[in-house]
Amino acid sequence: MSPKPQRRLAINGFGRIGRCFLRALHETGKADQLQVVLINEPAEAESIAYLARFDSTHGRFPGTVRSVSGGLEVNGRCIALTHAKAPEEVDWRHYDIDLLVECSGRYTRRAQIERFLAAGCPRLLLSQPAQGASDVDATVVFGLNHDQLTGRERILSSASCTTNAIVPVLKLLHDAYGVEHALLTTLHSLMNDQPVLDGYHHHTDLRCMRSAMQSLIPVSTGLARGVARLLPELTGRVEAKAIRVPVINVSAVDLVASLAKPATAEEINTLLKEAAIGRFPGLLAYSDDPHASVDFIHNPHSAIVDGCQTRMSGARLANVMVWFDNEWGYVNRMIDLVESL
Ligand SMILES: NC(=O)c1ccc[n+]([C@@H]2O[C@H](COP(=O)([O-])OP(=O)(O)OC[C@H]3O[C@@H](n4cnc5c(N)ncnc54)[C@H](OP(=O)(O)O)[C@@H]3O)[C@@H](O)[C@H]2O)c1
Repeated sequence: MSPKPQRRLAINGFGRIGRCFLRALHETGKADQLQVVLINEPAEAESIAYLARFDSTHGRFPGTVRSVSGGLEVNGRCIALTHAKAPEEVDWRHYDIDLLVECSGRYTRRAQIERFLAAGCPRLLLSQPAQGASDVDATVVFGLNHDQLTGRERILSSASCTTNAIVPVLKLLHDAYGVEHALLTTLHSLMNDQPVLDGYHHHTDLRCMRSAMQSLIPVSTGLARGVARLLPELTGRVEAKAIRVPVINVSAVDLVASLAKPATAEEINTLLKEAAIGRFPGLLAYSDDPHASVDFIHNPHSAIVDGCQTRMSGARLANVMVWFDNEWGYVNRMIDLVESL
């Protein structure tokens, strides 16, 4: 098979996800094939170079990063930098990009997203779910539905990190046993939309104004909606809640599902273990070791099933737990998706 042509990419918003995306391209040896030529981030160049070099979660950048005139030099290659806060303020055409990877999280409605297209971006991929399914041309979980893309979609979303983590497991359980109803509880690491100490954040969820370091904080979540977008057969049968926990990275989903057919914990573990090498290799992993969340920092899988935590209450109420590096697993799926386009 002939190699895919080189792609020219831009990143909008160089925060946790934007920086991890660039770094994962370098760590996976794909930075030549998927070449980032422009980063648009409001922060100034020295700060951008600094946070790209030193990362409290993932460690030092593997290679060299320095701020140079007009840009950022990463492993010897120059990436242009702009510092705009609006799509219209960047001359995207000038950089001849094939795809914009939108990682600011600020654009969730079609009318807002289309401003990038009008400003000269040929195509874009959001690092989050859009507000409504029709606000994008496709919501994609790599490994589940990326092969259904037609190539004509211009606005793509790679769903949420939690959706990427739980959808393969739900799909497997549903296909094998029939999921009648499911409840999902996400324990999510803190994020930059929370303050270190209590503070006035312009947020619709009041609890997001509380100190991220001090509490377990229940927050609103669109996960049930996100799952139904990917697995429409489960529409109306999934509910979800989320709790932010004071760790800097790695999250978990605790899944409770009532099954149409009886199962044992061993059978469910066998199903998920086999899928980790069969149906969802590279996406799903399985472990029987006694883990704590920190074990999964920098793990590239979408989800790691914790076999020790699988439980049954009776023959039809199943409880499964998965871990996921909400940053590193997610950007690796974004890269898989970009590579497949
Ligand atoms: N972190 C995760 O684990 C994770 C996982 C999957 C998906 N996501 C999603 O990815 C998105 C980004 O999350 P994140 O954790 O990377 O957030 P983040 O660390 O806050 O990064 C966002 C960056 O975008 C910048 N920005 C703000 N407005 C901008 C604009 N108009 N144009 C360009 N850049 C702009 C921000 O600058 P300022 O700080 O100055 O505003 C910040 O540097 C969110 O939608 C999030 O839900 C996050």
